[in-house]
Amino acid sequence: MERPADRLALLAQPAVLSAVRTQLGWDIEYHERIGSTQDRARALAAAHAPLIVVADEQTAGKGRHGSAWIAPAGSSLLASWAMRWPVAPSGAIALLAGVAVARALEALGARGASLKWPNDVQLRERKVAGVLADATSGDPEGSSLVLGIGVNVRQRELPGELADRATSLALEGLELDRLALLARVTAEIERVARSDAERAQALDEWRRRAPMLGREVSVVRVDGPRITGVARSLGDDGALVLETAGGPQRILAGEVTIER
Ligand code: BTN
Repeated sequence: MERPADRLALLAQPAVLSAVRTQLGWDIEYHERIGSTQDRARALAAAHAPLIVVADEQTAGKGRHGSAWIAPAGSSLLASWAMRWPVAPSGAIALLAGVAVARALEALGARGASLKWPNDVQLRERKVAGVLADATSGDPEGSSLVLGIGVNVRQRELPGELADRATSLALEGLELDRLALLARVTAEIERVARSDAERAQALDEWRRRAPMLGREVSVVRVDGPRITGVARSLGDDGALVLETAGGPQRILAGEVTIER
């Protein structure tokens, strides 16, 4: 079957870029190739937010904890949204963005998008998207925030080491236009940013979409030992609350594996 057209690269045409800017209500910078949309959006955030930096390819894409985010040219949605954020940034922001991505994927036809703490969006318990959240500053008007999102869209195969823990929309049978996905994710980010009530609702949705809650997990913390316990709940600040042999523990950063 022929793949539907992918229109993202049309953003290289000034007339299309201008029409999409008007339609989405965000300034947009499109790059055929860039080091990292996240670096670029962070550099522009203070003076130019709200702004989306989007690229067809990244040569130095960043994942969490300094890891690389690798995606072949033309395969993925690679974008960073620089915006004013209405309240003090907390650890919950990457989780809210995860809910926005899950909602966007389902609105466009994916089924059963789930969330893995802190920032993975999954289909069939395989990672299809990741979120990086960088809060840049605080001032009386609110803080600047840069949300970087990578979605595996058109990959027909993934490198061997990722094949059993990651996936793409194409591998899940969903052929999507990355421009349509950009528009939908943008609308869903706006929704979770809109009000305290929307944020509270989105965090509740995160809890409902998280199969890890109630299961035994182990967590490797950035600067601490591995701990195991039952993932009991998610705090309003985005902390994962584990019930361990030594009592409850709140985890603010780390990598989680579901054990049972
Ligand atoms: C993760 O480790 O799961 C987060 C990955 C975030 C990747 C995206 S791709 C667009 C933006 N630019 C980057 O360099 N990283 C983020």
